[in-house]
Amino acid sequence: MRNELEKDILKILVTEEELKARVTELGTALAEKFQDQTPLFLGVLKGSFVFMADLVRACPVKSDVEFIAVSSYQNATVSSGRVKINHDLQQDITGRNLVIVEDILDSGNTLAFLKDYFMAKGAASITIATLLDKPSRREKAVSADLVGFEVPDEFVVGYGLDYCQRYRNLPYIGVLKPEVYSHT
Ligand code: PRP
Repeated sequence: MRNELEKDILKILVTEEELKARVTELGTALAEKFQDQTPLFLGVLKGSFVFMADLVRACPVKSDVEFIAVSSYQNATVSSGRVKINHDLQQDITGRNLVIVEDILDSGNTLAFLKDYFMAKGAASITIATLLDKPSRREKAVSADLVGFEVPDEFVVGYGLDYCQRYRNLPYIGVLKPEVYSHT
């Protein structure tokens, strides 16, 4: 039976099983890359929180976690281009090998800003892991080192991704019905 979240979903783009399998692959790749190091997994809130939780458990190396909260959409469907830090780093990242964990790379505005920000704060290296990549919407020349799935230019929600702060708790990646966002 469809619940009150699922009735707003047009179609499922990435199933729970596909997510689990791909996150396992990404975690294994990161473990190989960082086996002799202690990377700092840096989740970009809010969207990354589900992916982050699964990715660190799929990567059996010594590591620690940190978060930064930013927003650039402010409940709009198109990036404003201005990135606002809502919650800043709580630790020194000087000399650290970072794994930036993002739910989606879209215009690239967020990651372009964050790469400069973290390098200015003294990061030794930056590896970008994004669950989803929408290359068709790119405005900034930024790419990820690890991509879970390339997705078309559709309004995707679930597994951390929202529309107006909702749908983050769907266990899969779905496409929102157009009537849901055209009525607000
Ligand atoms: C989303 C997403 C990324 C960013 C990607 O964040 O989580 O951080 O947009 O888009 P871009 O490549 O066009 O910059 P959002 O600002 O919606 O905040 P949220 O993570 O709290 O949902």
